[in-house]
Amino acid sequence: MASISRKTFLKYSISFGVILSTSQVLQYCKTSSKERYDYERKNPFDPEFLSENISPILKAIRIGITAPNPHNVQPWKFKIINDHSAYLYVDEKRLLKDTDPTFRQIHIGQGTFLENLSLGAQVLGHSAEVSLFPEGKYTIADIGKKPIAKIILNKQEDLVQNPLSEFISERVTRRSVYGGEDLTQEDFEKIRKDSAVLYSELKFVPKAGSEKLSEQLIAAMQMETDTYKTYEESRIWFRYNDEEIGKFKDGISLRANGTSGLKYYIARNFFLKHGTESWHSPENKKAGMDMFASMVESSKGFIFLKTDHNEVIDWVQAGRDYLRLHLAATKNGFSLHPMSQILQEYPEMDPIRNEFESSLKPGEKIQMLARLGKSDYHFYSPRRDPKEFLLK
Ligand SMILES: Cc1cc2nc3c(=O)[nH]c(=O)nc-3n(C[C@H](O)[C@H](O)[C@H](O)COP(=O)(O)O)c2cc1C
Repeated sequence: MASISRKTFLKYSISFGVILSTSQVLQYCKTSSKERYDYERKNPFDPEFLSENISPILKAIRIGITAPNPHNVQPWKFKIINDHSAYLYVDEKRLLKDTDPTFRQIHIGQGTFLENLSLGAQVLGHSAEVSLFPEGKYTIADIGKKPIAKIILNKQEDLVQNPLSEFISERVTRRSVYGGEDLTQEDFEKIRKDSAVLYSELKFVPKAGSEKLSEQLIAAMQMETDTYKTYEESRIWFRYNDEEIGKFKDGISLRANGTSGLKYYIARNFFLKHGTESWHSPENKKAGMDMFASMVESSKGFIFLKTDHNEVIDWVQAGRDYLRLHLAATKNGFSLHPMSQILQEYPEMDPIRNEFESSLKPGEKIQMLARLGKSDYHFYSPRRDPKEFLLK
């Protein structure tokens, strides 16, 4: 859904009898899709940031944290070793215990960070040496206690930059309704070639013949919505208005969902109410499901990312691949939106997930599933100040 123009916004506002000041109108309509509001994610390659007198590792972390991550919880914390190195840990205070009870997705988010940092550091003239699980065997009980990785930056004069690094700043998860042509096998091959994934296999599901998949995705979202604790988890991370987005600088929101202009204004001011009662009301759930169904139905194709095994290391490495896939889609002009509900491992989802995964070989797992298409909607989900991620 593209932002509506100021003229259209005013026309609607008048017909709805809404009286707005010019500054209110400006608040709801962007002048350009690339413009960033204060509450949005900053461009980590902004010359002002790059010229700041801070260490290379902090500059690299600032790039890394713009990576995609579940519900934008930003589940990372860092122990700085010196100006060129740091340990990465999962932030155990930022887990999604109900929708991600195995912590698979949180670890995918560790991989997306590592790949974003590694590709982004190249722009700063550094190669990143990443050693996974530097303290040896890592299990779920070690979350937040043992590092996921040790990162060392090495200055390199003759560094050949991966072209994907140019798309880090532009990459966003777009949840708007998609337009454009259906993705062709050729489009998929270009994305696959550019992503050059290292650890997993990419699978393409063209739009034609994806009816059953669409039904399954909608059924999975319905299950998440009707299961109190999983839907409640979304409420906890939901930021209701621009003030909250700016204050918390994390989580999900209507803006991130592709709602802008008049629709955003009306939802924000007349429908969205804080509290569990309103969130779990039949009207709110129906509005959410209608929005989700229109997203799924507008998909122009789907891509899966599959691994042969399903251990913690596979999750981290699948995350590295997912980041490359998302950058490659961005490079080729496609918007991408993961739809993870059907992959999730809580008991209520078991029947839907088991049916969906029934053709997999033992041990295999679809780690990410995303819809693709075209959209010029822009919202850069916020990120917290990098200093807030540092362990003292
Ligand atoms: C493991 C993983 C699972 C995700 N699942 C979903 C999902 O089911 N639905 C969705 O809208 N976004 C999903 N996302 C995207 C995140 O919500 C998004 O990356 C985050 O809000 C930050 O926004 P950005 O990607 O625009 O920077 C997922 C991302 C990751 C890494």
